[in-house]
Amino acid sequence: METLKEQYKILEFPDFGDERGNLVVIEGEDFDIPFDIKRVFYIYGSDAEVIRGRHANRRTQFVLINVAGKSKVRVTNGRENAIVELNRPRMGLYLDTMVWKDMYDFSPDSILLVLCSEHYDGSEYIRDYDAYLKEMQAKEN
Ligand code: TYD
Repeated sequence: METLKEQYKILEFPDFGDERGNLVVIEGEDFDIPFDIKRVFYIYGSDAEVIRGRHANRRTQFVLINVAGKSKVRVTNGRENAIVELNRPRMGLYLDTMVWKDMYDFSPDSILLVLCSEHYDGSEYIRDYDAYLKEMQAKEN
């Protein structure tokens, strides 16, 4: 059984900035992140009390980056939990498949960029937490 520590990872991206400003690069396919980027979306304008995410994905791996502002991400595999604050444009949070995630505590200037390993397919999302827990418990047995 994988531990949560094997299912998420804090990444630090290279900055090629100079006196003109910062330039952060993220290349897929095992350069800076462990997958080929097939989809990108970003979330902004979410109030501080909003909780987003609330799902696990069967096939998609993600990297989350607050390119502006801050947010928090709570991750769990049903047994262990961790909370990561995203607060720097060079910092990424890698999430493997089947990690449950909640994004919350968005600052007013938060722009949360999400890189995805797969195209969007609503059928690979698990949105029912009880069903997720049951499935994860069944895997352990
Ligand atoms: P949702 O999964 O609730 O977003 P989040 O996990 O960030 O809170 O998605 C909101 C809506 O947008 C939902 O109807 C599905 C749609 N959507 C797409 O069509 N494509 C995408 O890549 C994403 C992330 C969402």
